[in-house]
Amino acid sequence: MTESFSDKQELKAFINAAQYLAGLTSGQDIWEEAGKVLVKFFGADFAAFARHHANGAIEIDHWSFSGRGASARLPENEMTMAAGDVFESGFLTFISIASDDPAEGPAAAALFPILHENRVIAVMLVGHLSSSPLENETLDLYLAVAGLIGATYSRKISLVQLEELVEERTAELTAVNQELERFSYSVSHDLRAPLRHMSGFVELLKKRLGDYPDAATRDYMNMISEASKKMGMLIDDLLNFSRLGHSQMQRTKVNLNALVKAVVQEIQQDLKERDIRWEIGELPDVLADQSLLRLVIVNLVSNAVKFTSTRPKAEIKIGCRDDGDKITCSVTDNGVGFDMKFVHKLFGVFQRLHSQREFEGTGIGLANIQRIISRHGGRVWAEGAVGQGATFYFSLPKIRET
Ligand SMILES: Nc1ncnc2c1ncn2[C@@H]1O[C@H](COP(=O)(O)OP(=O)(O)OP(=O)(O)O)[C@@H](O)[C@H]1O
Ligand SMILES: [Mg+2]
Repeated sequence: MTESFSDKQELKAFINAAQYLAGLTSGQDIWEEAGKVLVKFFGADFAAFARHHANGAIEIDHWSFSGRGASARLPENEMTMAAGDVFESGFLTFISIASDDPAEGPAAAALFPILHENRVIAVMLVGHLSSSPLENETLDLYLAVAGLIGATYSRKISLVQLEELVEERTAELTAVNQELERFSYSVSHDLRAPLRHMSGFVELLKKRLGDYPDAATRDYMNMISEASKKMGMLIDDLLNFSRLGHSQMQRTKVNLNALVKAVVQEIQQDLKERDIRWEIGELPDVLADQSLLRLVIVNLVSNAVKFTSTRPKAEIKIGCRDDGDKITCSVTDNGVGFDMKFVHKLFGVFQRLHSQREFEGTGIGLANIQRIISRHGGRVWAEGAVGQGATFYFSLPKIRET
C-alpha cells in the first residue's frame, strides 16, 4: 500500500471493516478476523497481533498475509521488542525492515495499541512491502481501525460477561426453585398426618353422637368432615404436582395418534349420555415420557369434556401442526370458554375461572400440564372467549431425524 487511499475508498474500506467486525459471532476469533480485515480491506501485506501470554511474555500471532506478503521474512525479535514499547507507552511505533535478499525487498511496519477500558490489551502490527515508511493518512486510517478493533473486543467482552451473568442468575433461580419445591413437598407431606387425625376423630365423634337430636350439631360435624376430605384431596394434588417436578423422565418415541385415540375412547366410555362430535387430526410421533404425556392429554380432553357439558352438542377438535423446529398441538372445544383477561391465571396451582357449583374440580390439571410440558422443553398457552369455547395449546421440540 504505497499510495494513500482516496477519501472515498478510505471511507468504504472503513465501513466494510466496521460491518465485518460488527457481524462477528461469539465463536469467531476476533484477532484472526481483524487480521483478515487489514489485509482484505486495507491492502496490508501482513498483519498480526501481539498479546501478553499468561506467563507475562509477549507473543505475536494470528498472522495474515497478502499474496506477496507471504514471502516476507520478518524479524520476530525486533517486532516483539517494538510491541513491548507500545504496551508500555501506549503510543504507536514504527519499524523498517531491511532484507538481505534482494528478491524479498524491504518492508515497513507500524504497531498500534488496542485499548480496552484505557488499557493496552493488544498491539496491532501492520505493514507492507516497501522501502518508504507508511504515510500519515494511512497511519490515521490504521489508528481508526485499531480503535474499531478495540471497540469490537470490548463489545465481545461485555457479551461474554452478560452470558456469564445470565448463567449465574439462572443457576441461582434454579436453586431457589428447587428449595421452594422441597419446602412445599415437605409441608404438604407433613400436613397429611395431623389431617388424618382430625378426620379420624371427627368420624369417631360422629359415630359417638349417633343421631344426636340437634340438627345444627350434626351439620357442623358433616361440614368439618367434608372440609377435611377436601383438604386431603388438595394436599394430595399438591404432592403429585410437586412430584412431577423431579420425577425421573423416560423419553421415548410416542405415537401421539394412538395415545390420543386411547384416551378419548376411555373417557368416552363414561359419557354414554353425552352427544360429542370428535374431530381428531393426523398426529405425529413425539419424543416424550409416555405416561406424563398421557396425563397432559387426559387433563386437556377432560377439561374440554367438562366445560362443554352444558352444550346440547359438544364439538372437540384435537390437532397438531408443524412449526419448524417444534410441533404445536391443540385441543379446541365449543364450551363455555373463559375471559381472556384472566388467561394468565389458568396454569397456576388451584386457580379456577369457574365456580365449584358450575363445574367441579380442584384447579390442578393445567398446572400439571404446564410443568410436564416445560420439562419436555415446550410451552403451553390458551385462547378463549366467554360463551365461545376455548383452545389449549402445547408445543414440543420435534424429533430430530438422524
Ligand atoms: N376447556 C376449557 N374451557 C373453559 N375453561 C377452561 C377449560 N379448561 C380449563 N378451563 C379453566 O381453567 C381452570 C383450571 O383448569 P384445571 O384443569 O387446572 O382445573 P379444573 O379442571 O378446574 O380442576 P382439575 O383439573 O384439577 O380437576 C378451570 O377451572 C376453568 O376455569
Ligand atoms: Mg382440569
